[in-house]
Amino acid sequence: METLISTDLKKAETFLKQGDLVAVPTETVYGLAACYNNKTAIQNIFSVKNRPAYDPMILHASNLSMIKALIVKEFPPLAEKLAEKFWPGPLSMVLPKKETIDPIITAGLETVALRIPGHDLLLSLISKLNMPLAAPSANPFGYISPTTAKHVNDQLSGQIAMILDGGPAKIGLESTIVEVKGNHLVVLRAGGIAIEDLKEFDQNLEIRTSSSKPNAPGMLDKHYAPKKDFRFQKNFNSSKDISQIGLIRFNSFSEEFPLENQIVLSPEGKIEIAAQKLYSAMREMDQSRYEIILTETFPNRGIGIAMNDRILRAVNRN
Ligand code: TXA
Ligand code: MG
Repeated sequence: METLISTDLKKAETFLKQGDLVAVPTETVYGLAACYNNKTAIQNIFSVKNRPAYDPMILHASNLSMIKALIVKEFPPLAEKLAEKFWPGPLSMVLPKKETIDPIITAGLETVALRIPGHDLLLSLISKLNMPLAAPSANPFGYISPTTAKHVNDQLSGQIAMILDGGPAKIGLESTIVEVKGNHLVVLRAGGIAIEDLKEFDQNLEIRTSSSKPNAPGMLDKHYAPKKDFRFQKNFNSSKDISQIGLIRFNSFSEEFPLENQIVLSPEGKIEIAAQKLYSAMREMDQSRYEIILTETFPNRGIGIAMNDRILRAVNRN
């Protein structure tokens, strides 16, 4: 199969309607999409990604009435408030699903994750189809999520019909996932919306991301990971030839290593810019000549919390 890379919405619509997979842009990362009611297409997402069936996916809708009519059993007042504040945007809510949602999407759970993404091209596509799109991130399972059409093409070329090119993702990290249980919130994944901003909606907000328990290393997910040996700079001391080592830094060069081996994400020290570039930098380093990749930890506030979550899962692999 030849993979078309294009901005042509009409073509994307046609492919999806006939059950072909299309990678779609969002403000967080690119997703690998299928129509939510096409079981065969959804099974194909699992096989193209090599994704285990126990990992549920996120539904993407273009407006609230689509969500209420087709996806959720109930949409509590707290969900309304979150929607008003954060959608379209990088927040996924987990809510009780309608019986009509295929259990293959939710991995057999009674709840479903959903969001209205903040990307106009994708919103137009969903509106044209007039139904939600199921879409996990468009990477092989366990690898770094793609933030450009090229990233998707590098790994999935020949396996999917089309990549809808919507430019580089503005946020660059996945959505924050929050389960809405009546008037209580449980954060399941740190992401594009800061946890501090969710606390306004529930003082007793609970955080249940596995990496929030760094003292229990066995609980950490191995995910978002490069193939190279990827480690924290602060834990690293080795007699290895330093020319073989690449570094990912926040806002300054490390004096201990050659400058040309380093990617500084945001010399001006802006955490949002660093987040936007993190996955590109990880991919670039993964394809480089370096044998070991070191990373700094990032300021643990705002989207920096999600950046630290991702690199913690990535380094854990080695
Ligand atoms: O930003 C994003 O969220 C991107 C873009 C494409 O929207 N999508 C994304 O999807 O990151 P994915 O499949 O890589 O991650 C979705 C995660 C699952 O791994 C699972 O942890 C969680 O969402 N999830 C989905 N449904 C759930 C449910 N019913 N209950 C709890 N967690 C759920
Ligand atoms: Mg993913």
